[in-house]
Amino acid sequence: MKANSKKIFTNQDGVHPNLEKTVRRHLDNPFLKPVSEHTQAAFDSACAFLGASGRPLILDSCCGVGDSSRALARQFPDYCIIGVDKSESRITREREGGEPENLFLVRADLNDFFRLAHQGHWRPERHYILYPNPWPKSEHLKRRWHGAPVFRDIVALGGRLELRSNWKLYLEEFAAALALAGHEGTLTAYEAADPITPFEAKYKASGQPLWQLVAELGRAPAVCGGS
Ligand SMILES: C[S@@+](CC[C@H](N)C(=O)[O-])C[C@H]1O[C@@H](n2cnc3c(N)ncnc32)[C@H](O)[C@@H]1O
Repeated sequence: MKANSKKIFTNQDGVHPNLEKTVRRHLDNPFLKPVSEHTQAAFDSACAFLGASGRPLILDSCCGVGDSSRALARQFPDYCIIGVDKSESRITREREGGEPENLFLVRADLNDFFRLAHQGHWRPERHYILYPNPWPKSEHLKRRWHGAPVFRDIVALGGRLELRSNWKLYLEEFAAALALAGHEGTLTAYEAADPITPFEAKYKASGQPLWQLVAELGRAPAVCGGS
């Protein structure tokens, strides 16, 4: 596969100068914006699937067309894989051969879904955020997950959190935000021997270096609606 993905262009020359202030403010204050009805309903359906499965949870956030979720469902057959993306055209794109029985793909806004998952005491053993939108302009810091009010809920979910990106600075910032929340992440170059997402495949085919950030945020059994 040949591809020609544009390299990330940013007007930042390092970690955003407002990162610490922004993250500390969000860590200290719950995000109180009302949850949309649509995402509440989506969360309820995901909760029912998770509860019925009786299996530990793997969360695949920003799953796009769900290929990474499918790959995880095959790699971890004893887990319940929930893939979440806000794009209807992506999340409803079907693949040949049917879906794995341990997989649930759902359309939802993660700004709401993460909060509901935290409040519902979800405890994913693994949590993937693969190739999140980078929002590389300096003025868009708050659109990056570590600059968003919901960052505190992402951290509170716990588990083994893994992010991948073609923009190293995004992951450096995320690691800095995790440090402010009291967690250490490990940032390394990532060789995608067998790409599991369309963006991973595209960036690899374009010869772009890829990066991975992994952090162990603590673990507890997955439950739904319990404590
Ligand atoms: C760059 S794409 C990566 C998709 C996939 N992980 C991949 O690697 O092919 C980023 C994805 O994040 C999703 N996304 C961005 N903001 C979101 C939000 N607030 N809630 C849910 N999904 C979101 C987009 O719809 C998009 O599918």
